[in-house]
Amino acid sequence: MNAYQDLITEYPIFTPKNPWIPHKPVVLEIGCYKGLTLKHLASSHPESDFVGLDLTLKRGVLSYRRTQHLNNVKVGLWDAIDFLSYCPDHSFEGMVILFPDPWPKNKHSQNRLLGSHFFFMAKRKLVPNGYLWIKTDEKSYYESIVHWAQYWRWGTLPECPLIKTTSSFENLFTKQQKKIYESVFSSIS
Ligand SMILES: C[S@@+](CC[C@H](N)C(=O)[O-])C[C@H]1O[C@@H](n2cnc3c(N)ncnc32)[C@H](O)[C@@H]1O
Repeated sequence: MNAYQDLITEYPIFTPKNPWIPHKPVVLEIGCYKGLTLKHLASSHPESDFVGLDLTLKRGVLSYRRTQHLNNVKVGLWDAIDFLSYCPDHSFEGMVILFPDPWPKNKHSQNRLLGSHFFFMAKRKLVPNGYLWIKTDEKSYYESIVHWAQYWRWGTLPECPLIKTTSSFENLFTKQQKKIYESVFSSIS
């Protein structure tokens, strides 16, 4: 057992073995990493409840520690597709996915989170006027995201209802002067 493994039993981080589902619509951040964005969004929007999801124990624990003083945040360690499948329809008022793993090589592109299945399922899991805010630095990924959003008849919004925020990866890419692609999709066409 490593140091983080010990901590997960101490902290109320939910997992597939210790599951949790939203009982009213919440904002879901997929890939919350070390909790920087989650903390900023949740502290700026006390009117909403937030859930941060990531895959690794260390990131879950760091996100939990960073947000534990806020009473409108929960952190989960759960694969996003599995968690969405587990949650009832209309569980989320919004979803935030900043810099999903890009899988830039063609032969790995099927590993991308934001493909056809995601767009099909996420639309049902959002409330009818829910939103999906995405940013990526990977042009080919962005183009395929726009393709699948159009294919499954998502609408678009001029901007996200949440406060403008950045993320750890965005800070890094901004320093490297990389172009950032961004869209806000709406679950109503
Ligand atoms: C490139 S990092 C971006 C982190 C953060 N959003 C940012 O912009 O700084 C992608 C994050 O998504 C997480 N992730 C990847 N696939 C995931 C999945 N299927 N479910 C939940 N989290 C996932 C990774 O563990 C990683 O922390």
